[in-house]
Amino acid sequence: MPPTASDRVTFDRARDLARRHGWREKALIYLTRRPDEILVLEHTHEYPDAGVQVPAGGVDPGEEPAQAAVRELLEETGLRVSGPAEYLGSHIWHDEAAPSRVRHYYRLRAPLTTPDRWEHIVSAGTDDSGMVFRLVFRPLREAGLTPGFGWDGELGSLVGVSEPGGADRELRTERLVLRVPTEHDLPSILQLHQQDLSILHNPGDRLADAVQARDLLARWQRQWRDHGIGYWMVALRHDSGIIGVRGVKSMTLGSRPIMNLLYRFDPSAWGMGYATEAARAAVARSRALHPSLPVVVRVRPANRGSARVALKVGLRREPDLDEPGEDGIDHIYVGFVTSTFDMQDAACLCWSRGRCVPCPRRRDEASRPRPVGGARRADPLRDLHGPGGPT
Ligand SMILES: CC(C)(COP(=O)(O)OP(=O)(O)OC[C@H]1O[C@@H](n2cnc3c(N)ncnc32)[C@H](O)[C@@H]1OP(=O)(O)O)[C@@H](O)C(=O)NCCC(=O)NCCS
Repeated sequence: MPPTASDRVTFDRARDLARRHGWREKALIYLTRRPDEILVLEHTHEYPDAGVQVPAGGVDPGEEPAQAAVRELLEETGLRVSGPAEYLGSHIWHDEAAPSRVRHYYRLRAPLTTPDRWEHIVSAGTDDSGMVFRLVFRPLREAGLTPGFGWDGELGSLVGVSEPGGADRELRTERLVLRVPTEHDLPSILQLHQQDLSILHNPGDRLADAVQARDLLARWQRQWRDHGIGYWMVALRHDSGIIGVRGVKSMTLGSRPIMNLLYRFDPSAWGMGYATEAARAAVARSRALHPSLPVVVRVRPANRGSARVALKVGLRREPDLDEPGEDGIDHIYVGFVTSTFDMQDAACLCWSRGRCVPCPRRRDEASRPRPVGGARRADPLRDLHGPGGPT
């Protein structure tokens, strides 16, 4: 009989239990194309009992679960999508015979141009190597995942964040409301980027006109669409007027994927702790969605207010990582570092005439040795541990 229950635990606790008990970890992937769809995997007539599943696979030694999600998706579907994978939750599975007792659930997003269905021969390197999977996007509420095996363990949280006004679209703090930018915010965006004081240390961020404001808004909205997180417009709870913008953006520092934290407030709202309050909420949301990704702030050397906010939300100065930015050298502040994680950032769809075929990038990767425990490449972020502690 398949087990029917699992415990939801925090990411850090799940990883710790796996380490202490030697339990295998598995990453399960909910791939969405539109918010109300999910990719399911049907087995062909050769494996009629396997039911309807989602792409999933074991976490390799030395690999982050989020990284395993991106790799497994590629191996099981032929799709290379841009990460980072969005974390949904972790479960401990109550079946001592189960090969993977720890399950981490992730969401990845496929380009809208992805076909409705295709077949894929699983690539070498997995237990399912050589099997033919039939992949199809189904409506989220009619996914039809075979019950009792945990495939649907976090489907509920996916429904919650996928719908308009879902949990991540609006954040509330003690005094503030943070919400996703829309067309209505264009005047505020323009004003915030035209005030001399707001851009004193980053003159390159000045916006010349409404056209540039619209371009900036489009880039922010793309972040939300591609990564499920981005910048929020900040208002006071008792007054809908915008006082600032605050949020995180998926970027790399060197070759390392990170979440870059930005804050910019109207000078009339400075000095009241709003910047710190909003930053804490944004960092908490980033940590919930991407627990493996460090949070980074780039601070111009003379910007003492920005440096102070970075320190107050738990980041620390790392002079070795300073690098030139658009307006000169940036001081780098980093927090919540866990371990190394190479984001596979290029979108590459490997199919031809409705079937997946080997693509050049995948062939390159097949010949690349997989990371093994402890054998990580040199990385200046590797030994840093933020307040979240090592996992
Ligand atoms: C950086 C910025 C967001 C800080 O806003 P703020 O409203 O002053 O921030 P808070 O009220 O939360 O204050 C945070 C801390 O910074 C300190 N601080 C603020 N401005 C400071 C300054 N010019 N010099 C020294 N400390 C300063 C505050 O005293 C407070 O520290 P404390 O609690 O220990 O007293 C704001 O100055 C701003 O929007 N600047 C323009 C945009 C910008 O430069 N953004 C940074 C790009 S990364």
